[in-house]
Amino acid sequence: MPCSLRNKHVIPTIDDLDKYFGIKGSKILLRIDINSPIDPKTGDILDDSRIRAHSATVRELVERGAAVVVMSHQGRPGDSDFVSLDKHARLLEKHTGLQVRFIDDVIGPAAREAIKSLQPGDILLLDNTRLVSEEIIEATPEKHAESIFVTRLAPLFNYYVNDAFATAHRSQPSIVGFPVKLPSAAGRVMEKELTALSKLYNPEERPRVFVLGGGKVHDTIRILEHLHNNGAVDRILATGLVAELFMVAKGINIGEANLRVLEAKGLLSLLPRARRLLLRGLPLETPVDFRTLVDDHVEVETIGNIKGVIKDIGPQTVKMYTEIMKEARLIVMRGPAGVIEDPRFREGSRELVRAAVESNAYVIVGGGHLNSIIAELGLAGRPNLHVSTGGGALLLFLAGEDLPGLTALAKSAEKFFPQLIG
Ligand code: 3PG
Repeated sequence: MPCSLRNKHVIPTIDDLDKYFGIKGSKILLRIDINSPIDPKTGDILDDSRIRAHSATVRELVERGAAVVVMSHQGRPGDSDFVSLDKHARLLEKHTGLQVRFIDDVIGPAAREAIKSLQPGDILLLDNTRLVSEEIIEATPEKHAESIFVTRLAPLFNYYVNDAFATAHRSQPSIVGFPVKLPSAAGRVMEKELTALSKLYNPEERPRVFVLGGGKVHDTIRILEHLHNNGAVDRILATGLVAELFMVAKGINIGEANLRVLEAKGLLSLLPRARRLLLRGLPLETPVDFRTLVDDHVEVETIGNIKGVIKDIGPQTVKMYTEIMKEARLIVMRGPAGVIEDPRFREGSRELVRAAVESNAYVIVGGGHLNSIIAELGLAGRPNLHVSTGGGALLLFLAGEDLPGLTALAKSAEKFFPQLIG
């Protein structure tokens, strides 16, 4: 059965692709999102949950008789996690239980020759899609369909499958360009996300509490603007750098050291947008205490008296946020509350995740960083918990925004799957 996008649009699944076109003997370009946290010192992949999730789609396409070319981005050019996908290939091999060939090329002659020589059952992982400069440009599907990226690769394939729910908010060639040219379908991860979210996300279910932390502060401000404009949120519990930014916007003294951190990360330029949101009544709570690092000692400091570098939220904040979560019907969490790579600063995130899952609300957790906390607390599989592969994409979907990657698949269906369109 196709999956439906907010009951408006039809998105074909792998079953539809097989039924109407036939997968056996075909060549499939599969877009996944295995963008993972990377240890900046060793380059090791710190969490492989996305790779594990997408392995099922890769395996299924191969079992149905296709040759599969897999592509994904990793990080953003200029960042320390912008790395090659060679280590991802080994993990994809481990989780699929199948041989995966990696090529350090995306659209060049080496990649194209390798694609041409594939046989049914073969799996080839291309290198980081963001090595191609077009991939970081946001444009319409029609424009990207004429990009060098798409015009070089599309003729080598029969079909395109998009499994990258977590990148569906980006209008980039590997996401929106191929569905214009090829019969396209959602992969199993994408299908599962859409089915879970449309079933679990009842717009009538209020109050809705979003617990937002993590490092992608620019994205979070954009998401808050959408959430607020669409009236999609009742309470926001801010942690991490997002909280620090809003505290400065509220005129709260976060201490010199922390101001310098915000400045060094270029986040102070977001202050006017944060202030505008507050003036327009954004219901956002900020912490009342923090775990900080003072001369290499961990301290708990209360606002108004912060001397150290903020590393996690403090116990009073956990208590306050837990009380608010008790009233919620839906809790959405994204991003850790502190520097969880350091065991001394995992407590805030652990306590918030535990409080959410033990509340009466349905809990949707997005992004990779909280996965490790869920696993370590033994909470995976709890009936009121959906762990999404998406971060920004998940939040924008929940804000009621149309995601370009999903719209592109729905439009492609109108062109290539007339049988499915009523
Ligand atoms: C994510 O982790 O949110 C996705 O992989 C998208 O990454 P991006 O924010 O760099 O586009």
